[in-house]
Amino acid sequence: MDSLAILCTVALLGGGLYWFVCVLGSAEQKGKRAIDLSGGSISAENVQDNYKQYWSFFRRPKEIEKSEKVPDFVDTFYNLVTDIYEWGWGQSFHFSPAIPGKSHRDATRIHEEMAVDLIKIKPGDKIIDVGCGVGGPMRAIAAHSRAKVVGITINEYQVKRARQHNNKAGLDSLCDVVCGNFLQMPFDDDTFAGAYSIEATCHAPKLEEVYAEIFRVLKPGALYVSYEWVTTDKYNPEDSEHVEIIQGIERGDALPGLRSYSDIAVTARKVGFEVVEEKDLAKLPARPWWTRLKMGRIAYWRNHIMICVLAALGIAPKGTVDVHEMLFKTADYLTRGGDTGIFSPMHMILCRKPISAAD
Ligand SMILES: C[S@@+](CC[C@H](N)C(=O)[O-])C[C@H]1O[C@@H](n2cnc3c(N)ncnc32)[C@H](O)[C@@H]1O
Repeated sequence: MDSLAILCTVALLGGGLYWFVCVLGSAEQKGKRAIDLSGGSISAENVQDNYKQYWSFFRRPKEIEKSEKVPDFVDTFYNLVTDIYEWGWGQSFHFSPAIPGKSHRDATRIHEEMAVDLIKIKPGDKIIDVGCGVGGPMRAIAAHSRAKVVGITINEYQVKRARQHNNKAGLDSLCDVVCGNFLQMPFDDDTFAGAYSIEATCHAPKLEEVYAEIFRVLKPGALYVSYEWVTTDKYNPEDSEHVEIIQGIERGDALPGLRSYSDIAVTARKVGFEVVEEKDLAKLPARPWWTRLKMGRIAYWRNHIMICVLAALGIAPKGTVDVHEMLFKTADYLTRGGDTGIFSPMHMILCRKPISAAD
Protein backbone atom coordinates (compact mmCIF):
# COMPACT_ATOMS: atom_id res chain seq x y z
CA MET A 1 0.00 0.00 0.00
CA ASP A 2 1.53 3.35 -0.94
CA SER A 3 1.66 6.23 1.51
CA LEU A 4 -1.31 8.03 -0.09
CA ALA A 5 -3.53 4.99 0.44
CA ILE A 6 -2.38 4.72 4.07
CA LEU A 7 -3.07 8.41 4.62
CA CYS A 8 -6.57 8.10 3.10
CA THR A 9 -7.34 5.02 5.21
CA VAL A 10 -6.21 6.76 8.42
CA ALA A 11 -8.20 9.90 7.53
CA LEU A 12 -11.31 7.80 6.79
CA LEU A 13 -11.04 5.81 10.02
CA GLY A 14 -10.34 8.95 12.05
CA GLY A 15 -13.22 10.80 10.42
CA GLY A 16 -15.53 7.82 10.98
CA LEU A 17 -14.59 7.62 14.64
CA TYR A 18 -15.09 11.36 15.08
CA TRP A 19 -18.51 11.15 13.37
CA PHE A 20 -19.52 8.13 15.48
CA VAL A 21 -18.61 9.63 18.84
CA CYS A 22 -18.81 13.40 18.45
CA VAL A 23 -21.46 13.96 15.77
CA LEU A 24 -23.84 11.12 16.65
CA GLY A 25 -23.32 11.89 20.27
CA SER A 26 -23.79 15.62 19.76
CA ALA A 27 -24.74 17.60 22.82
CA GLU A 28 -25.71 20.72 20.89
CA GLN A 29 -29.47 20.17 20.79
CA LYS A 30 -29.92 17.50 23.37
CA GLY A 31 -27.57 18.37 26.17
CA LYS A 32 -25.57 15.14 26.49
CA ARG A 33 -22.84 13.41 24.56
CA ALA A 34 -22.47 9.65 24.41
CA ILE A 35 -19.06 9.78 26.02
CA ASP A 36 -20.57 11.57 29.05
CA LEU A 37 -23.29 9.01 29.80
CA SER A 38 -23.46 8.32 33.53
CA GLY A 39 -25.72 6.76 36.13
CA GLY A 40 -26.90 10.13 37.40
CA SER A 41 -26.21 10.35 41.13
CA ILE A 42 -25.20 6.66 41.17
CA SER A 43 -21.48 6.00 40.89
CA ALA A 44 -20.42 4.21 37.68
CA GLU A 45 -19.54 0.94 39.46
CA ASN A 46 -23.00 0.76 41.08
CA VAL A 47 -25.12 1.31 37.97
CA GLN A 48 -25.53 -2.38 37.21
CA ASP A 49 -26.54 -3.21 40.80
CA ASN A 50 -29.06 -0.37 40.84
CA TYR A 51 -30.52 -1.62 37.58
CA LYS A 52 -31.02 -5.04 39.20
CA GLN A 53 -32.48 -3.36 42.28
CA TYR A 54 -34.92 -1.46 40.04
CA TRP A 55 -36.21 -4.74 38.59
CA SER A 56 -36.40 -6.35 42.01
CA PHE A 57 -39.20 -3.88 42.86
CA PHE A 58 -41.36 -5.68 40.32
CA ARG A 59 -40.66 -9.03 41.90
CA ARG A 60 -42.25 -7.60 45.04
CA PRO A 61 -45.34 -5.85 43.64
CA LYS A 62 -46.65 -5.19 47.13
CA GLU A 63 -43.68 -2.85 47.71
CA ILE A 64 -44.59 -0.73 44.69
CA GLU A 65 -48.09 -0.43 46.06
CA LYS A 66 -46.72 0.99 49.29
CA SER A 67 -46.70 4.76 48.85
CA GLU A 68 -43.57 5.36 50.87
CA LYS A 69 -41.42 3.08 48.65
CA VAL A 70 -42.39 4.68 45.35
CA PRO A 71 -40.30 7.90 45.42
CA ASP A 72 -37.12 5.83 46.00
CA PHE A 73 -37.98 3.51 43.17
CA VAL A 74 -38.71 6.48 40.86
CA ASP A 75 -35.50 8.21 41.93
CA THR A 76 -33.43 5.10 41.09
CA PHE A 77 -35.13 4.92 37.70
CA TYR A 78 -34.30 8.55 36.87
CA ASN A 79 -30.69 8.12 37.96
CA LEU A 80 -30.46 5.30 35.46
CA VAL A 81 -32.25 6.90 32.52
CA THR A 82 -31.75 10.67 32.70
CA ASP A 83 -28.55 10.83 30.65
CA ILE A 84 -29.82 8.34 28.09
CA TYR A 85 -33.06 10.31 27.70
CA GLU A 86 -31.16 13.55 27.22
CA TRP A 87 -28.79 11.99 24.73
CA GLY A 88 -31.33 10.00 22.74
CA TRP A 89 -34.47 12.16 23.07
CA GLY A 90 -33.69 15.68 24.27
CA GLN A 91 -34.25 17.90 27.30
CA SER A 92 -38.04 17.44 27.35
CA PHE A 93 -38.96 14.00 28.66
CA HIS A 94 -42.44 13.75 27.17
CA PHE A 95 -44.36 13.01 23.99
CA SER A 96 -46.31 15.35 21.74
CA PRO A 97 -48.55 14.79 18.73
CA ALA A 98 -46.67 14.95 15.42
CA ILE A 99 -47.42 18.16 13.48
CA PRO A 100 -47.12 18.04 9.67
CA GLY A 101 -44.30 20.28 8.46
CA LYS A 102 -42.89 20.76 11.97
CA SER A 103 -39.84 19.14 13.50
CA HIS A 104 -40.10 17.03 16.68
CA ARG A 105 -38.45 19.89 18.47
CA ASP A 106 -41.09 22.41 17.37
CA ALA A 107 -43.95 19.99 18.06
CA THR A 108 -42.56 19.47 21.57
CA ARG A 109 -42.33 23.21 22.22
CA ILE A 110 -45.89 23.83 20.92
CA HIS A 111 -47.23 21.09 23.25
CA GLU A 112 -45.43 22.76 26.19
CA GLU A 113 -46.57 26.29 25.33
CA MET A 114 -50.16 25.07 25.13
CA ALA A 115 -49.95 24.00 28.79
CA VAL A 116 -48.99 27.46 29.99
CA ASP A 117 -51.48 29.20 27.67
CA LEU A 118 -54.23 27.10 29.26
CA ILE A 119 -53.44 28.28 32.80
CA LYS A 120 -53.67 31.94 31.75
CA ILE A 121 -50.83 33.48 33.70
CA LYS A 122 -49.20 36.90 33.32
CA PRO A 123 -45.50 37.77 32.93
CA GLY A 124 -43.90 37.77 36.37
CA ASP A 125 -46.43 35.36 37.91
CA LYS A 126 -44.88 32.53 39.92
CA ILE A 127 -45.94 29.08 38.72
CA ILE A 128 -44.88 25.53 39.54
CA ASP A 129 -43.74 22.71 37.26
CA VAL A 130 -44.61 19.51 39.13
CA GLY A 131 -42.10 16.81 38.14
CA CYS A 132 -39.85 19.00 36.00
CA GLY A 133 -37.19 16.56 34.72
CA VAL A 134 -34.13 18.42 33.44
CA GLY A 135 -36.34 21.41 32.67
CA GLY A 136 -36.93 21.31 28.89
CA PRO A 137 -40.62 22.33 29.32
CA MET A 138 -39.74 24.83 32.04
CA ARG A 139 -37.38 26.77 29.80
CA ALA A 140 -39.79 26.79 26.84
CA ILE A 141 -42.62 27.91 29.13
CA ALA A 142 -40.60 30.64 30.87
CA ALA A 143 -39.36 31.99 27.54
CA HIS A 144 -42.89 31.95 26.05
CA SER A 145 -44.80 33.37 29.03
CA ARG A 146 -42.14 35.32 30.99
CA ALA A 147 -43.60 33.72 34.12
CA LYS A 148 -41.27 32.70 36.95
CA VAL A 149 -41.21 28.91 36.97
CA VAL A 150 -40.23 26.81 39.97
CA GLY A 151 -39.66 23.16 39.11
CA ILE A 152 -39.64 20.25 41.52
CA THR A 153 -38.18 16.80 40.89
CA ILE A 154 -37.40 13.89 43.19
CA ASN A 155 -34.07 13.34 41.46
CA GLU A 156 -31.02 15.29 42.65
CA TYR A 157 -29.12 14.66 39.42
CA GLN A 158 -31.95 16.20 37.36
CA VAL A 159 -31.78 19.30 39.58
CA LYS A 160 -28.10 19.66 38.74
CA ARG A 161 -28.71 19.18 35.02
CA ALA A 162 -31.70 21.54 34.98
CA ARG A 163 -29.69 24.28 36.70
CA GLN A 164 -26.84 23.87 34.21
CA HIS A 165 -29.26 24.12 31.27
CA ASN A 166 -31.10 27.10 32.78
CA ASN A 167 -27.83 28.92 33.21
CA LYS A 168 -26.67 28.11 29.67
CA ALA A 169 -30.01 29.31 28.27
CA GLY A 170 -29.73 32.59 30.22
CA LEU A 171 -32.99 31.80 32.02
CA ASP A 172 -31.71 31.75 35.61
CA SER A 173 -33.79 34.77 36.54
CA LEU A 174 -37.01 33.03 35.44
CA CYS A 175 -36.31 29.39 36.29
CA ASP A 176 -35.58 27.81 39.65
CA VAL A 177 -35.40 24.10 40.52
CA VAL A 178 -35.74 22.31 43.85
CA CYS A 179 -35.21 18.71 44.79
CA GLY A 180 -38.20 17.29 46.61
CA ASN A 181 -41.13 14.93 46.68
CA PHE A 182 -44.26 16.29 45.00
CA LEU A 183 -46.30 14.40 47.59
CA GLN A 184 -44.91 16.72 50.31
CA MET A 185 -43.79 19.91 48.65
CA PRO A 186 -41.57 22.38 50.53
CA PHE A 187 -43.88 25.34 49.77
CA ASP A 188 -46.42 27.26 51.83
CA ASP A 189 -50.14 27.07 51.16
CA ASP A 190 -51.48 29.43 48.45
CA THR A 191 -48.03 30.17 46.96
CA PHE A 192 -48.41 29.78 43.17
CA ALA A 193 -50.45 31.65 40.55
CA GLY A 194 -50.60 28.53 38.38
CA ALA A 195 -49.33 24.97 38.08
CA TYR A 196 -48.69 22.39 35.40
CA SER A 197 -47.40 18.83 35.24
CA ILE A 198 -46.30 17.12 32.06
CA GLU A 199 -46.28 13.31 32.16
CA ALA A 200 -45.09 13.30 35.78
CA THR A 201 -48.01 12.68 38.15
CA CYS A 202 -48.32 9.18 36.65
CA HIS A 203 -45.44 8.32 39.03
CA ALA A 204 -47.54 9.11 42.12
CA PRO A 205 -48.71 5.97 43.92
CA LYS A 206 -52.07 7.67 44.52
CA LEU A 207 -53.16 10.48 42.21
CA GLU A 208 -55.25 11.93 44.99
CA GLU A 209 -52.14 12.60 47.10
CA VAL A 210 -50.32 14.64 44.47
CA TYR A 211 -53.46 16.51 43.35
CA ALA A 212 -54.22 17.43 46.98
CA GLU A 213 -50.69 18.76 47.38
CA ILE A 214 -50.91 20.83 44.19
CA PHE A 215 -54.30 22.15 45.34
CA ARG A 216 -52.72 23.20 48.65
CA VAL A 217 -49.85 25.23 47.13
CA LEU A 218 -52.04 27.01 44.54
CA LYS A 219 -53.58 30.42 45.22
CA PRO A 220 -57.38 30.46 45.28
CA GLY A 221 -58.68 30.99 41.73
CA ALA A 222 -55.46 29.62 40.15
CA LEU A 223 -55.50 27.07 37.31
CA TYR A 224 -53.68 23.74 37.07
CA VAL A 225 -53.18 21.70 33.91
CA SER A 226 -51.87 18.16 33.71
CA TYR A 227 -50.99 15.81 30.84
CA GLU A 228 -51.74 12.40 32.36
CA TRP A 229 -50.68 8.90 31.31
CA VAL A 230 -53.84 6.77 31.18
CA THR A 231 -55.47 3.69 29.77
CA THR A 232 -58.26 4.78 27.40
CA ASP A 233 -61.82 3.53 26.83
CA LYS A 234 -60.35 1.04 24.30
CA TYR A 235 -58.43 -0.80 27.02
CA ASN A 236 -59.89 -4.19 27.89
CA PRO A 237 -58.43 -5.74 31.07
CA GLU A 238 -59.68 -9.17 29.86
CA ASP A 239 -57.52 -8.96 26.73
CA SER A 240 -54.12 -10.52 27.43
CA GLU A 241 -52.39 -8.47 24.72
CA HIS A 242 -53.71 -5.24 26.27
CA VAL A 243 -52.52 -6.34 29.71
CA GLU A 244 -49.07 -7.23 28.36
CA ILE A 245 -48.71 -3.80 26.71
CA ILE A 246 -49.80 -1.87 29.79
CA GLN A 247 -47.58 -3.90 32.12
CA GLY A 248 -44.66 -3.39 29.73
CA ILE A 249 -45.20 0.38 29.89
CA GLU A 250 -45.47 0.33 33.70
CA ARG A 251 -42.29 -1.71 34.19
CA GLY A 252 -40.18 0.19 31.71
CA ASP A 253 -41.26 3.60 33.01
CA ALA A 254 -41.27 3.22 36.81
CA LEU A 255 -45.03 3.47 37.17
CA PRO A 256 -46.77 2.19 40.28
CA GLY A 257 -49.79 1.34 38.05
CA LEU A 258 -51.44 3.11 35.13
CA ARG A 259 -54.84 4.57 35.90
CA SER A 260 -57.92 4.78 33.74
CA TYR A 261 -58.83 8.03 31.95
CA SER A 262 -62.11 7.92 33.86
CA ASP A 263 -60.35 8.30 37.25
CA ILE A 264 -58.71 11.65 36.50
CA ALA A 265 -61.56 14.15 36.78
CA VAL A 266 -63.10 12.19 39.65
CA THR A 267 -59.84 12.54 41.61
CA ALA A 268 -59.44 16.23 40.78
CA ARG A 269 -62.95 16.95 42.08
CA LYS A 270 -62.36 14.83 45.16
CA VAL A 271 -59.48 17.04 46.33
CA GLY A 272 -61.53 20.22 45.75
CA PHE A 273 -60.72 21.27 42.18
CA GLU A 274 -63.34 22.46 39.77
CA VAL A 275 -62.78 20.74 36.39
CA VAL A 276 -62.70 23.35 33.61
CA GLU A 277 -61.82 21.10 30.67
CA GLU A 278 -60.78 17.52 29.99
CA LYS A 279 -59.58 16.19 26.65
CA ASP A 280 -57.37 13.40 25.35
CA LEU A 281 -54.90 15.32 23.19
CA ALA A 282 -53.88 12.07 21.48
CA LYS A 283 -57.31 11.56 19.90
CA LEU A 284 -58.02 12.38 16.24
CA PRO A 285 -57.50 14.75 14.50
CA ALA A 286 -54.19 14.74 16.43
CA ARG A 287 -51.37 12.98 14.58
CA PRO A 288 -49.69 10.03 16.32
CA TRP A 289 -47.40 10.90 19.21
CA TRP A 290 -45.60 7.56 18.80
CA THR A 291 -44.27 8.21 15.25
CA ARG A 292 -41.04 9.45 16.77
CA LEU A 293 -40.56 6.15 18.61
CA LYS A 294 -41.15 4.17 15.41
CA MET A 295 -38.76 6.35 13.45
CA GLY A 296 -36.19 6.01 16.22
CA ARG A 297 -35.60 2.28 15.69
CA ILE A 298 -32.57 2.71 13.42
CA ALA A 299 -31.18 5.36 15.75
CA TYR A 300 -31.64 2.92 18.62
CA TRP A 301 -29.42 0.28 17.01
CA ARG A 302 -26.80 2.88 16.15
CA ASN A 303 -26.90 4.17 19.73
CA HIS A 304 -26.88 0.67 21.18
CA ILE A 305 -23.70 -0.24 19.30
CA MET A 306 -22.12 2.96 20.55
CA ILE A 307 -23.12 2.27 24.18
CA CYS A 308 -21.78 -1.31 23.95
CA VAL A 309 -18.47 -0.01 22.59
CA LEU A 310 -18.22 2.73 25.24
CA ALA A 311 -19.10 0.28 28.04
CA ALA A 312 -16.54 -2.25 26.74
CA LEU A 313 -13.91 0.51 26.75
CA GLY A 314 -14.88 1.40 30.33
CA ILE A 315 -16.07 4.90 29.28
CA ALA A 316 -19.80 4.32 29.95
CA PRO A 317 -20.89 2.45 33.11
CA LYS A 318 -21.51 -1.24 32.45
CA GLY A 319 -25.19 -1.22 33.36
CA THR A 320 -26.02 1.43 30.73
CA VAL A 321 -26.20 -1.32 28.10
CA ASP A 322 -29.01 -3.02 30.11
CA VAL A 323 -30.79 0.26 30.76
CA HIS A 324 -30.69 1.18 27.07
CA GLU A 325 -32.08 -2.23 26.13
CA MET A 326 -34.88 -1.84 28.69
CA LEU A 327 -35.81 1.52 27.17
CA PHE A 328 -35.90 0.04 23.68
CA LYS A 329 -38.29 -2.71 24.79
CA THR A 330 -40.42 -0.10 26.54
CA ALA A 331 -40.51 2.01 23.37
CA ASP A 332 -42.04 -1.00 21.64
CA TYR A 333 -44.77 -1.32 24.30
CA LEU A 334 -45.46 2.41 24.06
CA THR A 335 -45.73 2.17 20.27
CA ARG A 336 -48.16 -0.74 20.59
CA GLY A 337 -50.10 1.27 23.19
CA GLY A 338 -50.38 4.08 20.64
CA ASP A 339 -51.20 1.83 17.66
CA THR A 340 -53.98 0.02 19.52
CA GLY A 341 -55.26 3.27 21.07
CA ILE A 342 -55.45 1.68 24.54
CA PHE A 343 -52.93 4.11 26.05
CA SER A 344 -52.50 7.88 26.02
CA PRO A 345 -49.67 9.92 27.57
CA MET A 346 -51.57 13.18 27.11
CA HIS A 347 -54.96 13.00 28.71
CA MET A 348 -55.28 16.71 29.49
CA ILE A 349 -57.15 18.00 32.51
CA LEU A 350 -57.54 21.69 33.33
CA CYS A 351 -58.69 22.50 36.87
CA ARG A 352 -59.31 25.56 39.00
CA LYS A 353 -58.89 25.96 42.73
CA PRO A 354 -62.09 27.73 43.78
CA ILE A 355 -61.76 31.30 45.15
CA SER A 356 -63.34 30.16 48.36
CA ALA A 357 -64.52 26.85 49.76
CA ALA A 358 -68.11 27.94 49.05
CA ASP A 359 -67.42 28.46 45.29
C1 LIG B 1 -41.34 11.64 32.48
S1 LIG B 1 -40.50 12.78 33.49
C2 LIG B 1 -41.22 14.31 32.88
C3 LIG B 1 -40.35 15.47 33.19
C4 LIG B 1 -40.82 16.80 32.63
N1 LIG B 1 -42.17 17.09 33.02
C5 LIG B 1 -40.67 16.80 31.14
O1 LIG B 1 -41.70 16.68 30.47
O2 LIG B 1 -39.55 16.93 30.65
C6 LIG B 1 -41.27 12.62 35.11
C7 LIG B 1 -40.68 13.54 36.16
O3 LIG B 1 -41.45 13.40 37.37
C8 LIG B 1 -40.55 13.43 38.46
N2 LIG B 1 -41.14 12.76 39.63
C9 LIG B 1 -41.67 11.52 39.71
N3 LIG B 1 -42.09 11.25 40.97
C10 LIG B 1 -41.83 12.35 41.71
C11 LIG B 1 -42.03 12.70 43.06
N4 LIG B 1 -42.59 11.86 43.94
N5 LIG B 1 -41.67 13.92 43.46
C12 LIG B 1 -41.09 14.81 42.60
N6 LIG B 1 -40.85 14.53 41.29
C13 LIG B 1 -41.22 13.32 40.84
C14 LIG B 1 -39.33 12.70 37.96
O4 LIG B 1 -38.22 12.97 38.76
C15 LIG B 1 -39.24 13.29 36.55
O5 LIG B 1 -38.55 14.50 36.60
